[in-house]
Amino acid sequence: MKARRNSTGRSQSRSSAPYSKDSRKGDLRHGPKRNGPKRHGPKRTSRPSSIRAPVRKNAQLAARQRPAKPDPRPIKQAVFVRPEPTASGDIRLALLTAPGLGPWAQREMELRRIVVRNISSYRLRNHDLVTFDIARGLAPSVRELRVVDDLFTIIVEGFSLHEPAQLRRLGRMELKEKILKSLPLKGERGNKKRATDYWVFVKQDRDHEVYRHEVADVLVQNIGASFSHWRAQEPADVEVWAFMIEGRLTAGVRLTDISFRQRKYRAGERPGALRPPLAAALVVMSDPSPEDRFIDPMCGTGTILCERALWGATESLVGGDIDHEAIEIARQSAKIIDRPVELYRWDATDEEALIENAAGATVLVCNLPFGKRFESSDLRSLYKRALKAWRASLAAGARMILLTSERDILRSAALDVGLKARTLTVLTTQGLRATVFEVRNGKG
Ligand SMILES: C[S@@+](CC[C@H](N)C(=O)[O-])C[C@H]1O[C@@H](n2cnc3c(N)ncnc32)[C@H](O)[C@@H]1O
Repeated sequence: MKARRNSTGRSQSRSSAPYSKDSRKGDLRHGPKRNGPKRHGPKRTSRPSSIRAPVRKNAQLAARQRPAKPDPRPIKQAVFVRPEPTASGDIRLALLTAPGLGPWAQREMELRRIVVRNISSYRLRNHDLVTFDIARGLAPSVRELRVVDDLFTIIVEGFSLHEPAQLRRLGRMELKEKILKSLPLKGERGNKKRATDYWVFVKQDRDHEVYRHEVADVLVQNIGASFSHWRAQEPADVEVWAFMIEGRLTAGVRLTDISFRQRKYRAGERPGALRPPLAAALVVMSDPSPEDRFIDPMCGTGTILCERALWGATESLVGGDIDHEAIEIARQSAKIIDRPVELYRWDATDEEALIENAAGATVLVCNLPFGKRFESSDLRSLYKRALKAWRASLAAGARMILLTSERDILRSAALDVGLKARTLTVLTTQGLRATVFEVRNGKG
């Protein structure tokens, strides 16, 4: 069985079966079945809902004032609230981001003054999905968003799919017009003469009564009937992604490809390097302003620094790491983005080094070392020494945004040096549940 890479960047086996081995976990790629109706997947049994799901945030965003911070608590309601009909002149889009980052993608839209309406948020197994209306003319502005993995135009939202019998209605649903209207936003002409390849991917919050491959098959047939010159195969020019959440289906035409979430500045990879959309979310959490004297004292390959530099101006931008190789990669990345970033090889617990090179920083954002490679006792000591040095070298009232999976160690290290760590949000990174803390430098 030959493995090949699909357009999402994952490798996929080319067997006739629609699932790759691990795709039943729920949230992995899945295409339509082409060779007969062999049944895969779980038995049809009703299961209690284990996943939180769609909740309507119902926020009309004010364009000029800074609204309140997003609520970092997990989505609790399990009731689908149908959005208002999309106003004429508006288009309904969706963004997909990492679990826990949905509210921060919304916050990014607020900070960038991208006005959207009629917002709904959904929690999938490995993603947050946010749907919203935006004026058609403003739709291209969502491509500026950095806390986002992918963008879609919505063609179906909240379609009830609790039982297999409902698939027939899905098969008859009019999708052609909506797909045609999506193509210009993808940068494609709507009425291409040449054949177009298309493919359907289905993701879900949990196992459902209606199987994913059935949904994929029905959507493939529906689209194929509307566009007789299109071929169902991947890699595809047009990807339809369908999300099954709490027995309902939401689907959209993908407007982005893998290059959208991968940044061109990444000069090298190292274990523990942050995914750029998460680094961008940490920048958003820092409430960026041009007066920032910004520091990442354990910057690794410099992802946070690059995301901050690309966000906008700062008074200064400083990073450091104890690891020579990491600093070299960070230096090359800074060169690629062509922004002034000061980089030092230092021990971030060395108060004197910080005072000499970066005294008076007002914003510190850091992805702390954590995970299987570190002993808790080492981390306890490292966190405490680091916070002590940062307390001494940062400006009074400076904000620290700190990401770690070691919640209790961070909290007690902060208390030990007279600081208070407040939970800002909880998310998943590299398969670990992690917390982002806000710590105010209370000295002075
Ligand atoms: C989780 S990684 C940060 C990854 C970074 N955000 C990126 O995207 O590449 C933690 C970093 O802390 C650095 N580090 C660990 N102890 C340090 C210390 N005492 N002083 C400075 N850096 C340190 C490690 O070398 C590593 O690069």
